[in-house]
Amino acid sequence: MKTAICDDLVLLDLQQLSENSTLGNRLAKRYKHLKKWAKSTVTDAFRIYDRDIPEYPLAIDYYAGRFNIQYFSKGADEGEEIPPEMTALTEDAIRSLFGVEKADIFWKVRKVRSRLEQYEKISGRHNYFSVFEHGQRFLINLTDYLDTGLFLDHRTTRQLAASLAGGRRVLNLFAYTGSFTVHCAAHGADLSTTVDMSNTYTDWTKDNFILNEMDLNNHQIIRDDCIKFLKEAKSAKVRYDLIILDPPTLSRSKKMEEMFDVQKDHIQLLNDCFALLAPDGEIIFSTNSRRFKLDEEALTGRQIKDVTAKTLPQDFRDAKIHKCWIIK
Ligand SMILES: C[S@@+](CC[C@H](N)C(=O)[O-])C[C@H]1O[C@@H](n2cnc3c(N)ncnc32)[C@H](O)[C@@H]1O
Repeated sequence: MKTAICDDLVLLDLQQLSENSTLGNRLAKRYKHLKKWAKSTVTDAFRIYDRDIPEYPLAIDYYAGRFNIQYFSKGADEGEEIPPEMTALTEDAIRSLFGVEKADIFWKVRKVRSRLEQYEKISGRHNYFSVFEHGQRFLINLTDYLDTGLFLDHRTTRQLAASLAGGRRVLNLFAYTGSFTVHCAAHGADLSTTVDMSNTYTDWTKDNFILNEMDLNNHQIIRDDCIKFLKEAKSAKVRYDLIILDPPTLSRSKKMEEMFDVQKDHIQLLNDCFALLAPDGEIIFSTNSRRFKLDEEALTGRQIKDVTAKTLPQDFRDAKIHKCWIIK
């Protein structure tokens, strides 16, 4: 298995950059800063630009030879297209700095005020490839969905979960493509249950296990509504030592009776998780909701540790990208 990492991404001659390429200069600087870190993190998937310059409201992520660019603009909510000059300038800078082809650059428009998270298909090209992260491999798709298959902001959170997983029973809820579970399994979790309501993502999780040559015997992957799963699991005898709970901000689905809202519903959700927790068990709870406030009063008697700062990876500049706690 390949272990050395972002050697594939080589900074070409800076002379190639046009003199007034502010974005290009910023990219070159960030890349020089991150390269060593990416190597020690054993990853070829990282954020190289995080809305650093206000005139370029972009997040630029490198995924094993390709660049995934998200355009964030208030106007994007009203259907604004990416300004063509911005596309041209950004692509020029990336191509002259890293020598990649135009076909290796993928653009997405992110709505800033989008309240409902989006998981729908945006195309059906099925172009999957893999990246490394701390020695495990994950399937990435840059064409078919707004999200790529791996949330890079949770790279450190995944390591935190893995460090707590050895010899334990792990439940991963709202699991998306199961990357938390793969790391936990790699770190010796005794067994795991991974739940997501999307067939696409439970299949993707299975494929991530297979990619890492992991035996699925002790690792159950379930397509279900997590809220329903929790209620039903209460009456079953199974208990978990580690629960990973990273729900969407809002979720509406035909498969759910009513809309889930993390702010309104997190205490109920946590209480349902406590009911499944073994005596020394713990929950890693996180949310991407920027306005979220943990209702600590409702959790009186629980041990709560805020690990937000500790779980923000070096390649992210946005300190509000997620909030995270360990709750016992
Ligand atoms: C924010 S993502 C979770 C990211 C994941 N924890 C990770 O870091 O890779 C939300 C996921 O929750 C799933 N989801 C949303 N509502 C759900 C529900 N009620 N039950 C189960 N899964 C749900 C979506 O399909 C999506 O995969």
